[in-house]
Amino acid sequence: MEFKSVAIDGPAGAGKSTLARRAAQALGFLYVDTGAIYRTVALKALRSGVDPEQAEQVVPLLEGLNIRMTYGQDGEQKMYLDGEDVTQAIREHRISGVASKVSAIPQVRAFLLDFQRQQAREHNVIMDGRDIGTVVLPQADVKVFLTAAAELRAKRRLLELEQRGQQGTYEEILRDIVKRDELDRNRPISPLRQAEDAVCLDTSQLDLEQSLQALLSIIKEKIEL
Ligand code: DC
Repeated sequence: MEFKSVAIDGPAGAGKSTLARRAAQALGFLYVDTGAIYRTVALKALRSGVDPEQAEQVVPLLEGLNIRMTYGQDGEQKMYLDGEDVTQAIREHRISGVASKVSAIPQVRAFLLDFQRQQAREHNVIMDGRDIGTVVLPQADVKVFLTAAAELRAKRRLLELEQRGQQGTYEEILRDIVKRDELDRNRPISPLRQAEDAVCLDTSQLDLEQSLQALLSIIKEKIEL
C-alpha cells in the first residue's frame, strides 16, 4: 500500500507542531515531529557534557545512541532516550539552542535520515521540521512552508512556555528565535529553505483556526481523502 505524506517546514515558532498535530488528527494521519528527534540528540549531548558545536565530540555519541519513538492512542509522540521517557525534558528552553547546534552537524543529520523516512514508509504522515520537503521526503505529496513574522512567533512561543509553567521573557525568546533562524537558514547542510514545489502559508494575520483551515485546504487540494 502506498502511503501519503505531507511535509511541513518552517522557522521556529511558526506554529508547525500545533497545526501539524491538529491537521493529522483531522485527517487520521500520523504526526511526526522531527524537531523532537534533534532535541533528544541535544539532550544526550548536554547530559554527556560535550560541546554541541564540536562535531568531533558529538559524533562519537551517535554510535551508542538509544532513541525510541512511540505513539499513543491519541497520536501523541513520545521520545525515549536510553529507555527514559524524555518527552517533557526535551521541551525545556535551553534544549532549543543546543538542538539547533547539533542539527548543523552533517553526521547527525545523516544518522537521523532513515529514522525519519521509516515513518513515512509505514504510515500516512504529516511530518514537520526544517528539511522535510527538501531532503527527508522530497517526494512528499504535499509540501507546505509555514511561516510568520518573528515578533509573532516569539509571542506564541512565550505563551506556550508559560502554559507549560516554564520561564522566559519576550525579549529573550525573540532574540533566541532570530538567532536560531539564522543558524537553521545558514548552515551548509540541509538549511531551512522553502522547497520549490512547496506552498507558502504565512500565518502572521491568521488565528489558529484560520491557519488550520488554510492548511487543510492546501492538503485537500493535493490529496484525495
Ligand atoms: O522544531 P524544533 O524547534 O523542535 O526543532 C529544534 C531544532 O532542531 C531546530 O532549531 C533545528 C533542528 N531541526 C532540524 O534541523 N531539522 C528538522 N527536520 C527539525 C529540527
